Amino acid sequence: MSATLHAPEAPAGGSRTRREVRTVRVALAGCGTVGGELVRLLDRSAAAIRARHGLRFELASVLVRDPARERPAKLPPGLVTTDVAEFLAADVDLVVEAIGGLDPATRIAREALASGRRLVTANKALVAAHGPELAALARRSGTRLDFESAVGGGIPVIRSLRDSLGLTGISAVRGILNGTSNYVLTRLGEGWRYADALADAQARGFAEADPERDVSGQDAADKLRILAWLAFGTEPSTLPVRRRGIVPHPDRLARAASVAGGVLRLVGEAALTDEGVVASVEPVVVAAGSDLGRTRDEENAVVVASRWNGSVRLSGPGAGGSPTASALLGDMLRGAQRLPRPASTPAAPTDRRAHRWVIGVSGRCTDEGFLARTLARAGMVAATLGRADGDLFVGTGAHPWPRVDLALRALEASGCSPVAARWESAPADG
Ligand code: HSE
Repeated sequence: MSATLHAPEAPAGGSRTRREVRTVRVALAGCGTVGGELVRLLDRSAAAIRARHGLRFELASVLVRDPARERPAKLPPGLVTTDVAEFLAADVDLVVEAIGGLDPATRIAREALASGRRLVTANKALVAAHGPELAALARRSGTRLDFESAVGGGIPVIRSLRDSLGLTGISAVRGILNGTSNYVLTRLGEGWRYADALADAQARGFAEADPERDVSGQDAADKLRILAWLAFGTEPSTLPVRRRGIVPHPDRLARAASVAGGVLRLVGEAALTDEGVVASVEPVVVAAGSDLGRTRDEENAVVVASRWNGSVRLSGPGAGGSPTASALLGDMLRGAQRLPRPASTPAAPTDRRAHRWVIGVSGRCTDEGFLARTLARAGMVAATLGRADGDLFVGTGAHPWPRVDLALRALEASGCSPVAARWESAPADG
């Protein structure tokens, strides 16, 4: 028995011609935080996937460990099995693995790829242990292995390293690779107790089944091995990683960071040195305003430093069902992606969003009264910020662009040579 993930008809009306829709049969291993969220996402996005990519995903089999467990998504009865052999016998084109751990994930991955089926996996432990072997198996079988969601949750870091950055002469990959420990450290910085912070991260679906893997740095080390494989071609399963987590003394480490004038982050780093690739996962005190210091909660951040492309920073949601499921869906769509085909060209809507602005004028217009009156005629309020190099600068209240445009035209007509910039650093009102 199989279930179509509700694919309503293509958008009704309009002049769009109906495109051929290809059905892709999917077997899903794991239906917990990530797998369950994927089922929901596929359901919600079915019409869009069909309209944009001409695909319909049909769920044919779902492997779970405990059929009695409460799940985030409702599964059609008859699809669920606890038997790996039965799961692998399903007639599918694509296997999605979100069950985690090495057993039975390794068997599923090997058998799926050996039989020519595509494999999409969120499993960092699996890819760190067997990535190159599975990639070779996929090549031999003429199929694909994709694992975007295994590192960095919803951040497209794997894709960036595979497709764009891989040959830029990478010298180092560094970043925050574990959402749970970053969430815990953020809460500790706010005075929470460690046990409460970890329990909260678990309740939010960020932590591994065994959260010790998060706080001890093992999860980050797996992800780092995968990044080092893509960046430097090192064998992930044997790359030595010097690893220290945020346990057993998270509070004392956080205090040490504060005494040293910074904030604590668990940082993974793989760098190319004269002696080869050195890799570490360890607590690091960083400046609060730095890229890593500003990475809060379950966010991850990855900085790729390279000879020919400078430094590329990627950051975003690093853990949790929804971002990880989005990355899985992206992999499921790989090869099928099409650019969106606009249904029609809508008339440009008026941008009514209000922003604060900095406006500067020069020459004879630098009289405060004149400028205030001109802005007021366009319905704008402003206060003087200061003068520099003969220009007068004012900061305005929150106004939509059409008003600013009106004021700028009036100032232009008066020969004031105005400049205007959106003022995102404006002090809060009141
Ligand atoms: N437990 C992992 C984390 C989930 O907290 O980053 C995402 O890989």
